[in-house]
Amino acid sequence: MADRLAGKTAIITGAGDGIGAAAVNAFVREGAAVVAVDISRSKLEQLTRTPDLESPERVVIMQGDVTDENTAFETVTICRTAFGHLDILLNVVGGSIMRKAFHELSVAEWHTVLRLNLDSVFAMTKQALLVMCAQRSGTIINTSSQMGIVGAPQLGPYNAAKGGILNLTRSLAAEYASYGIRVNAVCPGATRTQSLADDFTELEVRAGALEEWIRRHPLKRAAEPEEVAAGMLFLASDEASFVTGTGLVIDGGYTAV
Ligand SMILES: NC(=O)c1ccc[n+]([C@@H]2O[C@H](COP(=O)([O-])OP(=O)(O)OC[C@H]3O[C@@H](n4cnc5c(N)ncnc54)[C@H](O)[C@@H]3O)[C@@H](O)[C@H]2O)c1
Repeated sequence: MADRLAGKTAIITGAGDGIGAAAVNAFVREGAAVVAVDISRSKLEQLTRTPDLESPERVVIMQGDVTDENTAFETVTICRTAFGHLDILLNVVGGSIMRKAFHELSVAEWHTVLRLNLDSVFAMTKQALLVMCAQRSGTIINTSSQMGIVGAPQLGPYNAAKGGILNLTRSLAAEYASYGIRVNAVCPGATRTQSLADDFTELEVRAGALEEWIRRHPLKRAAEPEEVAAGMLFLASDEASFVTGTGLVIDGGYTAV
């Protein structure tokens, strides 16, 4: 299939790597023009050089921290200036960052995880809605996690943030349906990205823990970023025209058992 997003414009956060980069490739392949935003300029530059990206001329890169409201404002402004309208916001930025017993967390650590996962969604979504409400059209896709549905030891702030994203998705779907705006989320399971590897190495989780965790997914493997991007693409496309307020679970069966 091709052209499922022909004529559409999208902002994709966390676009430089992992799931966000896979989504840029998928969205551009299906005809969208994309503002790719990431905190890392070098990752964005690498993205535009990869042979996976079919039409680099349809990608505008923007370096910035999307937890910052100024970056969010600037990103949406760039999209309107470059393309004239904003059809899709794909909020991908997030991460668990740390594993720690809840009673040992500092307030600063708690806020760091909430800021990365929730403030980023707040800042970008607010600015996008200002444009989408005026257009009376648009669709927003948030990235929750299977960890937004179930809990896990030492992931309290991440569980809270990803659960929050899922229910914020429902809240916004209800609030903005009358503007013709759909709001959905994806809930990925383990997905083969750099941050997954980092989570289990830099954070000094015991040896073998990553493999053990992946085996708890009934499909007995981690997803490829492209498999998560495929779900995002469906939610962004007109094929999902009657889908709003849902969390599409792409977790190899993790939360089914
Ligand atoms: N990888 C998994 O196993 C997995 C599972 C479930 C959910 N998720 C969620 O999927 C999303 C993407 O995860 P990933 O594994 O692809 O991550 P990743 O680390 O591979 O990529 C994240 C990208 O976001 C960028 N970034 C980080 N902070 C930023 C900020 N403040 N502003 C702008 N850009 C920023 C990074 O530079 C990087 O390019 C996250 O929300 C994550 O919680 C991932």
